[in-house]
Amino acid sequence: MICLGIESTAHTFGVGIVKDKIVLANVKDLFSTDTGGIIPSKAAEHHVEVCDSVLDSALREAHLQLKDVNLIAYSRAPGLGHTLKIGAFAARTLAQLHHKPLIGVNHCIAHLEIGRMLFPECKDPVLLYVSGANTQVIAYEGGKYRIFGETLDIGAGNLIDTFARELGIGFPGGPKIEAMASKSHSYIELPYVVKGMDVSFGGLLTHLTKMAKSGRYKKEDLCYSLQETIFAMLLEVSERAMAHCGKKELLLGGGVACNSRLQEMAEKMCQERGAKCYVPEKQFLVDNGAMIAWLGLLMHKAGNRTQIKDSIIKPYERTDDVKVNWRQ
Ligand code: ATP
Ligand code: FE2
Repeated sequence: MICLGIESTAHTFGVGIVKDKIVLANVKDLFSTDTGGIIPSKAAEHHVEVCDSVLDSALREAHLQLKDVNLIAYSRAPGLGHTLKIGAFAARTLAQLHHKPLIGVNHCIAHLEIGRMLFPECKDPVLLYVSGANTQVIAYEGGKYRIFGETLDIGAGNLIDTFARELGIGFPGGPKIEAMASKSHSYIELPYVVKGMDVSFGGLLTHLTKMAKSGRYKKEDLCYSLQETIFAMLLEVSERAMAHCGKKELLLGGGVACNSRLQEMAEKMCQERGAKCYVPEKQFLVDNGAMIAWLGLLMHKAGNRTQIKDSIIKPYERTDDVKVNWRQ
């Protein structure tokens, strides 16, 4: 069975095509700005503009035509209403024009399921999902995907990107902050905010911004200290979730997980507790259509269907709102 998945929760418009467990295509086009954050309506305009070409490229890469596709999946949640609507609209149109079944899926769960697909031995992981907008620790427990810890304010990527803009080093900030951090080993103490199982980055951002403005610190030292602090916070919560659930696998997801220092720290934490760390290749860490297609296939096989009249978006759906009937 072949599924075409459309991703549009935020700044990425992606189309992935998956046949059984084989990714035939995974094409994306990112909306980006030089200054300021994402304006949802502008990102949506971008998605409308690139929709046809991304779809065409994916079909070409997979050597397929739309008639060969058996199922259309789209990310229905969570995300920006403006951009989600474009993906849902495209999916609905394709499903109706080509008489294909449709399935709406949850983006956060897709990050976890693509990891289980890519690493068959990774059966029941705790997912540390860190992207621009999202920072969550998710695991399957009691028949649902539950959030064990999350950010109380901004996402880790958001912190990184905002601080990078503050330093004037551009967007996206992640790779640039990582490059600067690698030039330092001087740790400056920063607010370390873990509250129960949750983390908070807002105060840290204000603190870092003040430090940068004071001119008393080297940019490299600030970037290094930022990374060490937030990655330690994220892994503390992930480790506690693993201990609480008795799980022995940690899976990374989201654009921030491209960071090699985070991967190194995650690997070390897992080694120390006799667990295994799984890091998908970059195209599957960041937002992508293939993970949407794969979750679509899983859900469809379990008998789930989305009728056109129900093919709405759910910008605020939480992972534990989703009924999971595709796992035993
Ligand atoms: P979502 O809708 O899932 O929140 P998103 O639009 O933020 O997704 P992603 O592609 O998953 O998209 O993540 C982008 C984020 O990843 C940006 O904040 C970017 O700075 C960050 N990032 C990318 N590479 C790195 C890196 N090497 N180190 C740290 N952060 C990184
Ligand atoms: Fe994501």
